[in-house]
Amino acid sequence: MDVKEFRNAMGHFASGVTVITTKDEDNFVGLTVNAFSSLSLDPAQILFCIDKGSSSLHAIKKDSPFVVNILQDEQESVCRGFAKKGGDKFFGIDYSLSNEGIPFLKDNLATIHCKVHEIFEGGDHLIVVGNVSDFSCNDNKDPLLFYRGKLGSFPQGSLV
Ligand SMILES: Cc1cc2nc3c(=O)[nH]c(=O)nc-3n(C[C@H](O)[C@H](O)[C@H](O)COP(=O)(O)O)c2cc1C
Repeated sequence: MDVKEFRNAMGHFASGVTVITTKDEDNFVGLTVNAFSSLSLDPAQILFCIDKGSSSLHAIKKDSPFVVNILQDEQESVCRGFAKKGGDKFFGIDYSLSNEGIPFLKDNLATIHCKVHEIFEGGDHLIVVGNVSDFSCNDNKDPLLFYRGKLGSFPQGSLV
């Protein structure tokens, strides 16, 4: 199977965009992720998939806290910034700190505070299941979308 063609086919599934944020011993860590899903209502759980080659991987450990920042359509530059490999991705970014000292981004569409519950093998990715401890939503913004390799937003009023 041709990997590029498979990736292209998967790109036909339209999704939102998240940035996963956390920290290691010394630094804040984050990366852009669209392989995100709700998983369970009771207990409240979500999952995301992370490439085994990600430089953020070392910060994702059992019981470690992290935040899912669901992006709105004015956060395209945030999406691009956190899709870069390594480095200080928080420079020039507006963020706050959770009670546990985890950075979460300002002006998100939704913010979900989690703790790593379990990590499963998933081919060249890992599947990270998180227990949700807190969340907040902004109903006055529209989502940032990802479809066939491109970022976009709903045309004004298309959802009503
Ligand atoms: C829209 C979009 C969605 C992405 N989704 C994922 C994803 O679900 N999982 C993943 O591991 N990387 C995903 N990436 C790629 C990472 O953001 C990218 O490889 C980044 O450089 C990883 O940074 P790190 O190596 O510093 O952790 C996505 C990138 C973009 C632009």
